[in-house]
Amino acid sequence: MSKNEVFVEEKLSDDIALENIRPETIDDYIGQSDVKDNIKVFIESAKMRGESLDHVLLYGPPGLGKTTLAHIIANELGSNIKMASGPSIEKSGDLAAILSTLEPGDVLFIDEIHRIPSFVEEILYSAMEDFVLDIIVGSEGNSRNIRINLPPFTLVGATTRAGDLTAPLRDRFGIMAKMQYYTPEELDLIVKRTARVLEAPISSDASFELASRSRGTPRIANRMFKRVRDFAIVDGKSEIDLEVTKKALERLKVDSIGLDDTDYQLLKTIVEKFNGGPVGVESIASVIGEEVTTIEDVYEPYLLQTGLLKRTSRGRVVTDKGYKHLNLSYQNSLFDQ
Ligand SMILES: Nc1ncnc2c1ncn2[C@@H]1O[C@H](COP(=O)(O)OP(=O)(O)OP(=O)(O)O)[C@@H](O)[C@H]1O
Ligand SMILES: [Mg+2]
Repeated sequence: MSKNEVFVEEKLSDDIALENIRPETIDDYIGQSDVKDNIKVFIESAKMRGESLDHVLLYGPPGLGKTTLAHIIANELGSNIKMASGPSIEKSGDLAAILSTLEPGDVLFIDEIHRIPSFVEEILYSAMEDFVLDIIVGSEGNSRNIRINLPPFTLVGATTRAGDLTAPLRDRFGIMAKMQYYTPEELDLIVKRTARVLEAPISSDASFELASRSRGTPRIANRMFKRVRDFAIVDGKSEIDLEVTKKALERLKVDSIGLDDTDYQLLKTIVEKFNGGPVGVESIASVIGEEVTTIEDVYEPYLLQTGLLKRTSRGRVVTDKGYKHLNLSYQNSLFDQ
């Protein structure tokens, strides 16, 4: 199994385990206030018009709540949601089969929508724009076009790479929402909510510590919450306190701003092997043994956001801030190995 597959597997098992802590209404959905406030208005308006909501594209780094928001949109519309994912739609027939099960007002969620093959994607154009399905049936030499009317529906697409979508597909989304990293204050609320749902109390300072070290990502905050809880249970604590939280995060090798081993490997590789950069992502990938897409989609966005890394036309560069952060951790000798 490649690291990427391991990552996807982990993500899936995490999400299944965390299924019951997913918020279900838009008011329970913490943060992303710009996205949320606008979508609320669009949903309200669609309901008042008695029409389906325009198609929505949610994009941004993994674990920021795209799938969760898609469920909430369906919930708030009072509609059913049908789930599909880009990689599982290989042939036109796969997409046609999904589209033909839609009922009026349904939400069709397509995760990783950038991975639909382009010849299949073309079928989506008329489905999204005119609610018709144009397909070719029959064998070569004896084929004909048929057109099937579809009920009005809302496509919610999610992607970590909006740049990989073709322009015609992107243009057919009436609503585009960029998901942002969460602030520690917002993650603090998410951690407290998780603690309530899982009935595992956490002190305020511990919750904020965890929130500050979750790289702006609810999935990571929830996953680390469960690991910290493990340490608390084994230590015989009835409440997760700051001490056990710090101990657990140190053991998990998560630093003060949420960087993990791979982030360090990445930064240290650029500094030690490539003089701080600029260096191409392929070279970094081959040194640290990660896939380019994993680096680009999972690790880099947060390092860019925190200003430790910069992207230039000639490649990646570790910034002064990046050097300072590495030096600090060397002094703390936590990661110096
Ligand atoms: N705004 C939020 N409030 C509370 N919990 C959230 C929020 N956003 C996400 N979560 C939690 O974080 C976890 C990950 O969210 P989700 O699966 O929706 O992310 P995603 O953006 O779809 O990720 P990916 O791109 O990897 O598919 C979920 O288990 C959910 O409970
Ligand atoms: Mg998802």
